[in-house]
Amino acid sequence: MLDVKVLQEAPVEGKTVLVRTDYNVPLSAEGRITDASRIEMSLPTIKYLIARDAKVVLFSHLGQPNGEVVEELRLDPIASKLSELLAQPVKKFSDCIGEEVEQGIAALQPRQVAILENLRFHPGEGANDRNFAAQLAKLGDIFVNDAFATLHRAHASLVGITEFLPSYAGLLMQKEIESLTRLLQDPERPYVVIIGGQKARSKLSTLHELINKVDVILIGGGVAFTFLRAQGYEVGNSIVDETLFDDISTLLKEAKEKEVPILLPLDVVMAQSAAAEAETAIYPVGDMPRGWMGLDIGPKTIAAFVAEIKVAKTIVWAGPMGMFEIPQFAVGTRKIAEALAQTSAFSVVGGGETGEALTALKVADLPSYISTGGSACLTLLRGKSLLALEVLRR
Ligand code: 3PG
Repeated sequence: MLDVKVLQEAPVEGKTVLVRTDYNVPLSAEGRITDASRIEMSLPTIKYLIARDAKVVLFSHLGQPNGEVVEELRLDPIASKLSELLAQPVKKFSDCIGEEVEQGIAALQPRQVAILENLRFHPGEGANDRNFAAQLAKLGDIFVNDAFATLHRAHASLVGITEFLPSYAGLLMQKEIESLTRLLQDPERPYVVIIGGQKARSKLSTLHELINKVDVILIGGGVAFTFLRAQGYEVGNSIVDETLFDDISTLLKEAKEKEVPILLPLDVVMAQSAAAEAETAIYPVGDMPRGWMGLDIGPKTIAAFVAEIKVAKTIVWAGPMGMFEIPQFAVGTRKIAEALAQTSAFSVVGGGETGEALTALKVADLPSYISTGGSACLTLLRGKSLLALEVLRR
């Protein structure tokens, strides 16, 4: 799996090095970064390059602006945070391609660091457009992919660009892949996967593969309501993606044939709105009232999930169990985190949102490994090759 070209082999001295990072960090309504883990994890590669007199040009996406400029998704807060963490100014450009950027980069001195504007302001990024990739590539001499959390996307800044520049895996990318490889090679059993969060579509496609590899699947978080609704339960105003119902029926059938239990919530915490002051109540899944929305797993579900965690030898967790940002809906996520911290199982937390939850809830004991990627982590664990990784092969 790790037969990719690595940064340590790249002749970076004095060169302009383009580093694709994943700075898709959570922002508060005021535009403040609420979890800077992904920025912190990118520092070793940046420092490695600075120490070798390279000119460092960082680029990333933030959110899903779908090819349009969205003011709230500019990377300025990230540039400020990086300046603070690196204790040196980081030059921020207001676009990621074009003459002004080219001139600005040409004026950089060795050891200086710059960051481009959100890649997804251009439709060419998501479309893996060759021309857009060429314009990005024009900005540097060497390409380094350190955006592990975006590895499952075949976008121009991850795939197309490698056609034009010598390309290498960065230090974070290497560390992530090495840690996850342990899960691909003969994991100790029982192997339990816990799925939560909101991104039902990408998680579902992963589950079709994971049922061939794991022993038990636990489903909580927003994703669970789509599963429950697909099975005919009333779920009130809980978030549901109806387009996935057929796919879910197929998955449940496959899981039955393969004798892989999929545990859905037995009870849920509901409220009339997703607000801190909202009245809440616990309902068994068969009694969820109309007009209420599910925002966390309930105590019976927690007990059932914790029982599986206790006997597991390998655990992967991707996606919080509820709306952890609001304390009264954070209990499920906290209890699962605590159960993971208490087992001696090898446990991996697949990233973004779940990592944020662990930071926000200030969970003291942490699982064995916290990845920066959620969906990327799950996609890799399917054992499928990823285009953005394939292009880094020797
Ligand atoms: C993530 O946070 O999962 C990655 O940054 C990818 O984001 P995306 O789902 O918007 O492509």
